[in-house]
Amino acid sequence: MNKSIPTYTLNDGQEVPVIGLGTVGIKGAKGVNEVLDALDNGYRLIDTSTNYNNEGMVGEAIRRSSVPRDQILVSSKLPGAKHKYEDAIQMIQESLYRIGIDYFDKYLIHWPLPKQDQYVEAWQALVDAQKFGLIRSIGVSNFLPEHLDRIIEETGVTPATNQIERHPYFTNKRVIEYNKEHGILTEAWSPFGREINDLLENEMIASLAEKHKKSVGQIILRWNYQEQILTIPKASSNKHQRENMDIFDFTLSDEEMKMIDSLDKGLDGLVEGQHPNEYEEFD
Ligand SMILES: NC(=O)c1ccc[n+]([C@@H]2O[C@H](COP(=O)([O-])OP(=O)(O)OC[C@H]3O[C@@H](n4cnc5c(N)ncnc54)[C@H](OP(=O)(O)O)[C@@H]3O)[C@@H](O)[C@H]2O)c1
Repeated sequence: MNKSIPTYTLNDGQEVPVIGLGTVGIKGAKGVNEVLDALDNGYRLIDTSTNYNNEGMVGEAIRRSSVPRDQILVSSKLPGAKHKYEDAIQMIQESLYRIGIDYFDKYLIHWPLPKQDQYVEAWQALVDAQKFGLIRSIGVSNFLPEHLDRIIEETGVTPATNQIERHPYFTNKRVIEYNKEHGILTEAWSPFGREINDLLENEMIASLAEKHKKSVGQIILRWNYQEQILTIPKASSNKHQRENMDIFDFTLSDEEMKMIDSLDKGLDGLVEGQHPNEYEEFD
């Protein structure tokens, strides 16, 4: 572990950096160089997914990097089409072959797809894959409290993390409260609202940025860090990668934290309207 990055301790004892690299859109030979840059810039957690079509690229960057494998945490996700028990186990093995590693540090069910009603079976597969040594920490993504209640009740195993949409326009407090009460670490996806909304131009956050001599992105990442939330901003440029790791030398006041909370737009703030009870993706 790179000791310059603070860590969170998961409910299974594993330490994870408080900031990782998101990789949606980071692909191919260019992507390998961008992940290598990220490792040089101190990132030690890489968030990928079968759905991103870049697991092979992540593996190539890990092989080419001078950072030893055991200091890099690799996290991937189970696609919706693979929720059946046998399919899930084979998908985990296939993803490991694609990346060229023999275990995941972290692995998540990508979406619950409650209309398909197979997420408990998928969760049992992750629980068993952890016992087989294929995964160190098991978690979920986009799970609401009702989905979490069900997997915990039916398997007796609480996820280590729940990766959810979370940014100032969709603060997702209800799920975060549930996660906290159950010892589940929240991970925030699209912390900057991706490129499809104006979050990075928000005037109120810009005024806080000016006051703290930081960027809008840094204020958003700090807001999450002060709530004990792991963030995985996607950044391909060196400039953004370095900026996103440089958030540990200032503090937002309680009042400033609340000012950012107040930007919440509820479901209108979702970046692509993907409600976990409705949204389905299978690949
Ligand atoms: N579990 C899920 O269902 C789910 C869903 C969506 C995303 N995710 C994960 O979350 C990660 C992050 O979300 P995201 O990719 O949707 O979007 P995001 O991280 O909110 O935003 C990425 C955009 O912000 C730019 N950026 C990065 N750092 C910046 C900075 N300091 N200042 C200004 N702009 C900056 C990036 O530009 P450059 O690339 O040019 O640097 C890119 O255009 C994904 O990559 C993925 O790993 C998970």
